[in-house]
Amino acid sequence: MDERSNIITIDGPGGAGKSSLAKRLAQSLGWVDLDTGAIYRAVALALFNKGVLNPTAELAGQMAQTLNLKFQRTGGTLRLFLDDQELGESLREPAISKLASVVSAFKETRQALLPLQRSLGQKGELVAEGRDMGTVIFPEAKLKFFLEAAVEIRAERRFWELKAQGKGTPLSEVLADLQTRDRSDESRSLAPLVKTPESVVINASHLGLEEVFQFARAKAQEVFGL
Ligand code: DC
Repeated sequence: MDERSNIITIDGPGGAGKSSLAKRLAQSLGWVDLDTGAIYRAVALALFNKGVLNPTAELAGQMAQTLNLKFQRTGGTLRLFLDDQELGESLREPAISKLASVVSAFKETRQALLPLQRSLGQKGELVAEGRDMGTVIFPEAKLKFFLEAAVEIRAERRFWELKAQGKGTPLSEVLADLQTRDRSDESRSLAPLVKTPESVVINASHLGLEEVFQFARAKAQEVFGL
């Protein structure tokens, strides 16, 4: 089998649980998980650190092109470094989420980040999550999930996550933010968030991570004969 088809993609809106599912699935298969949202967030963080809050497409593209971004594999995790500094929770700040949504809509950013993402799939055995994994980055993947959940439920889950981190962002604000990002991810002309005809759709509105994982793992076993 071509190594590159030995890939599972997970696309879906923000807050649906893609990262948790990708991690869990990769761990159980002994594969690697790739969070591509973190790459867009890293571009946003680099711009933010330079004081650029309203970048033009050219500036965002230039930043994406010249960014000193590296992935380091540790066990089944791909750790992300910017200028040799590991990126963590700073990527999740609301200001960075907003800026990441803006920069990810530019063709210049997406083109600049495409080779890096594809190269990470060269050896296969990858669970890649984002918005365009199954449509643009790894169209040859043998198993594609589309993970969705009602926006109110995603907002509530995110609200409690933030609360656990000591952040008191009001639920109404979390909901409005997610709705704005959904609109922008779905309506942009380039690589919009869409289901492919072959996507296995999972609606996680009323399912916990464990149930979603068990379903996805069973599918993976069936498709890859594991
Ligand atoms: O999944 P996330 O919330 O970490 O993604 C951050 C932003 O990047 C979000 O606005 C969507 C965008 N994104 C994208 O356009 N394509 C991807 N493959 C992954 C994320």
